[in-house]
Amino acid sequence: MTLSDSTRLESLRAAVRYHQHRYYVLDDPELSDAEFDALFRELQRLEAEHPELASPDSPTVRVGGLIAERFEKVRHPAPILSLANAFGPEDMHAWRERLRRLLPEEEQAKLAYVVEPKFDGLTVVLHYENGRFVLGSTRGDGEVGENITPNLRTVRVLPLTIPVASQQSTVISNQSPVADEAPNTQYPIPNTPPSRLVIRGEAYVTVSDFDAFNRSQEAQGERTYANPRNFAAGSLRLLDSGISAQRPLRLWTYQVLLLEGEQNPPASQWESLAYLQRLGFPVTPEVRRFTDDQFDDLVDYLAHWHDLRARLSYELDGMVVKVDLLSQQERLGFTGKDPRWAVAYKTGGEEAATKLLDITVKVGRTGAVTPNAVLEPVAIGGVTVSAATLHNEDYIRELDIRVGDTVLVKRAGDVIPKVLRPLVELRDGSEQPWQMPSVCPVCGQALVRPEGESATYCVNNACPEQLVRKVEYFVGKGSLDIVGFGSRQAELFVESGFIHDLADVFDLPWETIGAMEGYGEKRMQNLRAGIEAAKTRPAARLLTGLGIRFVGSVVAEIVMAAYPDLSALMAADVESLSSIEGIGPKIAASLVEFFSLEPNRALIDKFASLGVRMSGEMRAAAEGAAQPFAGLTFVITGTLPTMSRDEAKEYIEARGGKVTGSVSAKTDFLLAGEKAGSKLEKAEKLRVAVLDEEGLRVRGEEIVNGE
Ligand code: IVH
Repeated sequence: MTLSDSTRLESLRAAVRYHQHRYYVLDDPELSDAEFDALFRELQRLEAEHPELASPDSPTVRVGGLIAERFEKVRHPAPILSLANAFGPEDMHAWRERLRRLLPEEEQAKLAYVVEPKFDGLTVVLHYENGRFVLGSTRGDGEVGENITPNLRTVRVLPLTIPVASQQSTVISNQSPVADEAPNTQYPIPNTPPSRLVIRGEAYVTVSDFDAFNRSQEAQGERTYANPRNFAAGSLRLLDSGISAQRPLRLWTYQVLLLEGEQNPPASQWESLAYLQRLGFPVTPEVRRFTDDQFDDLVDYLAHWHDLRARLSYELDGMVVKVDLLSQQERLGFTGKDPRWAVAYKTGGEEAATKLLDITVKVGRTGAVTPNAVLEPVAIGGVTVSAATLHNEDYIRELDIRVGDTVLVKRAGDVIPKVLRPLVELRDGSEQPWQMPSVCPVCGQALVRPEGESATYCVNNACPEQLVRKVEYFVGKGSLDIVGFGSRQAELFVESGFIHDLADVFDLPWETIGAMEGYGEKRMQNLRAGIEAAKTRPAARLLTGLGIRFVGSVVAEIVMAAYPDLSALMAADVESLSSIEGIGPKIAASLVEFFSLEPNRALIDKFASLGVRMSGEMRAAAEGAAQPFAGLTFVITGTLPTMSRDEAKEYIEARGGKVTGSVSAKTDFLLAGEKAGSKLEKAEKLRVAVLDEEGLRVRGEEIVNGE
């Protein structure tokens, strides 16, 4: 059954109204932003499809920003705009191209940019007359906000009169590693305040203040807040400013909206920040300025914004990039409610809603069969996601996830995206419940779900899919870490019949491989070198790579530290194993069972006969020679012949090195591939050593193998 469109439309409108009320009036949302966006967009879509069902009081007619009736309204001197988003380097380059197109040549030459954190707080607009704080409001709907002056007066860092004595304005710069790059101090200290000044800032609370508050509320059985942002919002809009005063509100200011009676007004964003700082306003030191010909460095800096986020005590919602010159900002103007001269850069662990097109199952290295979501591609944090894990049969049943549902998907860092839940409000009745198949989709063996377990298994040891997954794990980062050997090679070599067991990884038919498409001389050599290097890794890695139940890298290391080599381990019994600190009876039994099986013993012998190292724990190796890059800083640029940039970064970090975004006098090596560009020039200028991939491997392996 499909609900009639008009009924759906009404229920969607009611849902949007309800959630807007929770968000804006009660400061207590039930939905994440992504969930709410999905609801809202669905409503917009349906309304666009059915203009005959339009209604003047639909929540789409007035977007968000509802004003709670309890506060007096304040009209802003100029609209308080929002920002368009950019996800990833491509969007940034496209943005720059657009700017350049809109500016005449002589202006293009003057382009420069300021990059600031995007504070995840609440916008406030602060009015000063002759140096006195007279009015403060929320953003509201962008035209009209709420007068929250008494509450803002309680924010300790907010100056009630300006200029503030100069030593107060430098408080913020000390803790910053980029303090010397913060808006410079050359801007003259104004001795009389401007007659009128309206500025924009962001009120926020730090993560630890938020946690502490929630903990104490919980202890007293009082309400808690979902996140620091809501806590800040709630605290700013309390009717009793005596209570606001006890809330740990803070403030960063970042924009001059109106300035009158100033002899020497700032001409750029950079100068505005310096000006605000000079007057005594809190201005973050985490700001950078880039000229147009440093745009690549700017993009690189943005790519590392998570590092900044990790360093700060408050939450960020991305970064903001602004055209520096105010005259150019004016010239560039707006589209809709977004300025063309600024953009919000976002990536990282984020959520989005999309359609669940299908559920397929995948066989893992242990034979566990996991359901996976096939998704309508959706951009999350700058990456297009079209697949996500659904864990197991129970997960799908408990959450009642159906094929055809709109689902909420989360992607955080490098982890596999996962489906969080279905958005049941968006169902139209066509969604189909899903069932676990009864046979393995690869080998046809009947699937088994052991009592008391949530996982389902393909119990056919010869299932080719299992072998591919085992090989993937064996050569992967946590195990033997063979550079250049990934899923693609695992699949290809198993399918081609080159690999029947894990030891075959060390016994590949190189001549045949050399004749295969895509395996040129260089690539083969690198792969062979990677495999050779893996033979000499400490045996704890080999043990990890075997994928024995309960034996991950930590356990493997403990075990290999206790026995001289793998054959001694093979001979150990449960009793002696469980006498090792950190090894319980379950792990001991699992090891003993594994090594009691003849094929597994034969496998270990085969490794030995192929020259694979049989002794050694990782820790000992890691402390010594295996860290050839300890203390060295690298920058990566251009396209490398076989490694991706991420792989190169991992390779360097695994050997103790550090990878940063831009070349400076502190850089030890520039790892340069093809089309290296401006970083190479800079490295040459600064006399920074330049390596190619080959050179990197030589340095990286030479010392490791020389142990
Ligand atoms: S500039 C027209 N700079 O982000 C200028 N906004 O998505 C637009 N925000 O509502 C604002 N940190 O509240 C700017 N450094 C920053 C910001 C920032 C946080 C917020 C601001 C705005 C939202 C736009």
